[in-house]
Amino acid sequence: MEQLAPAAVHGHGVVFAPRIQDLLAREDKVFRIDATTVGVSDFRLLSDIVAARPVLASERSVYKPAAGADVDHDSATRTIRALGQDVMAGVRTPPPPARGLSGAWPESATSYLRTWLFASDPLPVSLLSKRGVTRSDGLSRLADRAVTLWPGSGAGSGSTALAGLIHDATGDRDRRQAVALYRRATATLCDGVAALAANALWLMGPARAREESGAGLTTVLWETLRLLPPAWMLFRKGGPGYAGLHPGIRPEDDLALFPLLMHRDPDHWTDPLEFRPERWAGVADPEKTPAFMPFGFDGARCWAKHLVVPLAERLLDVALEHRLALRGSPRETHVPLRSLLSVRFEADTGV
Ligand code: HEM
Repeated sequence: MEQLAPAAVHGHGVVFAPRIQDLLAREDKVFRIDATTVGVSDFRLLSDIVAARPVLASERSVYKPAAGADVDHDSATRTIRALGQDVMAGVRTPPPPARGLSGAWPESATSYLRTWLFASDPLPVSLLSKRGVTRSDGLSRLADRAVTLWPGSGAGSGSTALAGLIHDATGDRDRRQAVALYRRATATLCDGVAALAANALWLMGPARAREESGAGLTTVLWETLRLLPPAWMLFRKGGPGYAGLHPGIRPEDDLALFPLLMHRDPDHWTDPLEFRPERWAGVADPEKTPAFMPFGFDGARCWAKHLVVPLAERLLDVALEHRLALRGSPRETHVPLRSLLSVRFEADTGV
């Protein structure tokens, strides 16, 4: 079988962490990773697993339990609605100075997005999304506490809808949950979109980056979500429901599902290792494409998917408009083993 990791895309090599490289070299689509974990990249089986039961509270990311309680449907819905309002309002405001995009990617892009979308929040709420704070568990806890204790926090005019949810929360537990949801939602959005934009810039390469703008970027992003999907692995805790789906899965096995591998399956994709945005031209709903699930399948489909692509597109527009270029024209990049799959590079804007 063809190796699923290309040596180079447009002369632009991607060197995956050894454990990801091992996965890409697997021939089977259902394989044992260790004594209690089975890996799956088969499209049918993956859809069946995701449809077999709803995600458990402990398997959720943004909406895993917070402040000692499950996040109920109402506050989950309120949070995503507020995030949507903030993203739409944010992208309508002029972007921060483009020099903020210079430096190490994807980190500079994460900070840039946080400044763009959430810097209008008054202290101490704005600390919840500040990179210097989010990088430290201790400082994050202090910021959480400051916001929870300060009764007027989040009330400033011009503050975000997400901050408004903290302000409006009644009672200690609701407020602590609103603080946790603000922190998780802003982090998931900014980290995820920065990773997606970094992967797109790398895959496009300098020549293509000069050409692309407007509608072209949408197809670039869908093709990036195929070849380097930020959410490259999904996890399901084992149980009797899965054992009947495949003879290689026992009731005690946890499951690691790999969109990254499925998106390169030659049974489903022509020239799977080629970066070809054209394959998405005229595709009205890319997510209806078989063997493609950058935002999950029905049952646990991403609630923020309608925000992610437009925001990444806007960020790329700003980067290309300001002639963001990779520093030192590197020929390869490394992808470390992290929950979000992202290339790394240094970049400078032409301003
Ligand atoms: C680039 C950014 C993002 C990507 C690539 C992404 C991708 C995904 C994927 C693959 C799933 C399916 C997970 C599974 O089946 O285990 C998912 C589910 C979900 N995502 Fe996203 N996501 C992104 C950002 C966000 C953001 C910003 C939020 C909300 C603040 C969000 C909220 C959710 C929710 C609520 C689910 C359903 C699972 C659950 O109920 O917890 N996602 N996402």
